[in-house]
Amino acid sequence: MLKPKVFLNRKLSERTMTSLEESCEILLWDGVGHCPLEAARQGIAQAEAVLGHYPWSSELMDCAPRLRIIANIGVGFDNVDVAAASRRGIIVTNTPDVLTETTADLTFALLLAAARRLCEAERFVRNGEWTTNRGSEALLGADVHHATLGIIGLGRIGSAVARRATGFDMRVLYYDIVRRPDLEDRHGYEYVNLDTLLGSSDFVSLHVPLCPQTVGLVGQRELGLMKRTAYLINASRGPIVNEPALVEALREKRIAGAGLDVFTIEPAGVDNPLLMMDNVVTLPHVGSATVATRLAMETLAAANVLAHVQGRPPLTPVNPEVLGR
Ligand SMILES: NC(=O)c1ccc[n+]([C@@H]2O[C@H](COP(=O)([O-])OP(=O)(O)OC[C@H]3O[C@@H](n4cnc5c(N)ncnc54)[C@H](O)[C@@H]3O)[C@@H](O)[C@H]2O)c1
Repeated sequence: MLKPKVFLNRKLSERTMTSLEESCEILLWDGVGHCPLEAARQGIAQAEAVLGHYPWSSELMDCAPRLRIIANIGVGFDNVDVAAASRRGIIVTNTPDVLTETTADLTFALLLAAARRLCEAERFVRNGEWTTNRGSEALLGADVHHATLGIIGLGRIGSAVARRATGFDMRVLYYDIVRRPDLEDRHGYEYVNLDTLLGSSDFVSLHVPLCPQTVGLVGQRELGLMKRTAYLINASRGPIVNEPALVEALREKRIAGAGLDVFTIEPAGVDNPLLMMDNVVTLPHVGSATVATRLAMETLAAANVLAHVQGRPPLTPVNPEVLGR
């Protein structure tokens, strides 16, 4: 019997490839860097399943008459046109939970690095500027312990960040479209509206998904509400922050600094003004980037494809309504 074809836009671990090969024929784009659109078009055209992180657009789906499942590697699925997939009866899956703790660790690392000026301090040492033992006075930072953390989006990752904050004796405020009285009772987190959170927090950390309602959620007005001594931490998605407004707020020292894992345009070009600012810590979208977590993410994505081709419901669908059709 012919095996269903699955298109991969990059090679995965040997373990994942082997487990897929048992039930599927793999169509692999094995080039270096980003898979070109034409290669994606050719792959998706023959495939019943695609597995990987890619801009899976409506236009690509138009070339894919046999496609039944898009298994995204990532919890965020703003790179997939889910509405277009649902219209065509294509199931979309993501990889929640397996990356939560790793992304929360990275968020807290960003927060600490921004507050204590770790990247500046490291450059100071490496550049040979540490010439007297008074060097530390040029690098005074902000305390994290006992400060107030404002979390926008207290979902899986936001609440994992909040748990870390309690270990630093921080006060935790949160704003979300869904209130979490269970977490308020258990951990003492305080629910506030967005403006109160912005005006009261020493650190504002973003953990909402990217969707039409969250594009530009933090813009000039919101940055203007933040304390001059506060830091903005973004390990969610770049477009949730209005980047020109952030550049202006940082330049004019209307906020103290920022820690950014994500940018409006990625990869961020060297001409991005945020990359030239000492009060900004910049990372290349490495929130989930540990060996174990990346393996867990591709394993879950592959399990979704295998479930589908073996006639079982996928484990983590984002448009489950398609399954009932
Ligand atoms: N930097 C990285 O590498 C990295 C890694 C993993 C996830 N992420 C990002 O983090 C996001 C969050 O992941 P998660 O697993 O915690 O998701 P989640 O769904 O568990 O949490 C998102 C929270 O945001 C809330 N929310 C949604 N829309 C809102 C709005 N308009 N205003 C206020 N709150 C709103 C939801 O109610 C939910 O509590 C992902 O969508 C992804 O974009 C980034």
